[in-house]
Amino acid sequence: MGVPRSTLGYPIAGDLSVHLHSICLFTARYGRRMSAAERTTDPMKLKLAQLAVYKVKEGELLSLMLTMGHRLGLFEALATADDMSPAELAKATGTQERWVTEWLYSVTAGGLVKKDGERFGLTNEMRLVLGEPEHPNFAGAIFNGPPLPETLDRLEDSFRTGIGFGWNDHGAGVAAMQRAMGANNKRAHLVSDVLAAKPDLIERLEQGIRVVDVGCGAGDLALAMAEAFPKSEFVAIDPSEHAIAIATGLAQEANLSNLTFRTGVFDDLEVDSADFITTFDVLHDLPFPEAATAATRSALVDGGTWLVADIKAEPGFDANTKIPVLSLFYSMSVMYCMNSALSEPGGAGLGTLGLHREKLTELVTEAGFETVEQHDFDFDVNNYYYFVN
Ligand SMILES: C[S@@+](CC[C@H](N)C(=O)[O-])C[C@H]1O[C@@H](n2cnc3c(N)ncnc32)[C@H](O)[C@@H]1O
Repeated sequence: MGVPRSTLGYPIAGDLSVHLHSICLFTARYGRRMSAAERTTDPMKLKLAQLAVYKVKEGELLSLMLTMGHRLGLFEALATADDMSPAELAKATGTQERWVTEWLYSVTAGGLVKKDGERFGLTNEMRLVLGEPEHPNFAGAIFNGPPLPETLDRLEDSFRTGIGFGWNDHGAGVAAMQRAMGANNKRAHLVSDVLAAKPDLIERLEQGIRVVDVGCGAGDLALAMAEAFPKSEFVAIDPSEHAIAIATGLAQEANLSNLTFRTGVFDDLEVDSADFITTFDVLHDLPFPEAATAATRSALVDGGTWLVADIKAEPGFDANTKIPVLSLFYSMSVMYCMNSALSEPGGAGLGTLGLHREKLTELVTEAGFETVEQHDFDFDVNNYYYFVN
């Protein structure tokens, strides 16, 4: 046997032999020290872990292909035929065949487009989701490019300082994306399903009452209500000037005389005697939801109603793991919702999944409301609707 020697040939004393193993590992493969994880890894599991991360990268880049598909009208053109060759799709959209072919391979590999030989098409369902912009389930417009570089710089700072920033600071693109994430669906069902659950409220809306939609975003829901109930007066407010700019454009197109949009915040509602107040996916974004709830209570007339829509969440991460897009929700929260809810020092920071029934009940009871009636409508997989009185 002789005296143990290091890989460099120097003798190693007996009490140093414990280091031999690590020195060998250090030099064995890469000429560097292996970490504890590397020494004990299963090579197959290592490959799977790497694949899981690349799958995330695949999603990031595939989403840019969807952005291009939406911007160039590629999905809308595909939706007009049973199937198309790349040359036919390129001709229909004024694009170049070679580019369209590679794009088709990308979205086909991503499971969004079907392929038969060298012809490509959309399933019936994908036609509605990606190819028909007016359909309630259309999702093609939610892809409108990566975040602005300055947003990521600011977010990095927020992780360090704890202070976030609101929807307005994300710019016009995010206001449009937020609109695209659910407005079509809610707009299609708000009156026929949600409000229809309260016939007495429908009756009052038909007769003419004062309604305020707080945190109206790009305004689709206020528009849907104002169109359906011409005798009622609607005011819709949101702090995001980008969202209000979209809303104002939509209102001009609709030419409604019973709806006003303006920038403003919930916390200092400048209205008195509203009969009906609505907030769709807003409460969890607020730094001070208690103040907002109290402001709502004082703005409502006696017997007035507050309609709150918020995410179908339960308290705590583990209770929510059945949500199929849970990671999307938590990522949205860091980017937008919790970010907004921590945009002021001392903010509550509820975030996307933070306004569950328990939290809402606590808030409204504290503010002096008496009842919370929860509804779960089939058309909306993301939100519960609560009538608060
Ligand atoms: C998730 S979006 C919902 C928009 C719209 N209600 C909808 O359902 O499409 C949340 C909205 O809350 C607004 N918001 C944030 N803080 C607010 C505040 N303090 N008062 C009123 N609205 C606020 C944001 O600007 C954003 O438009």
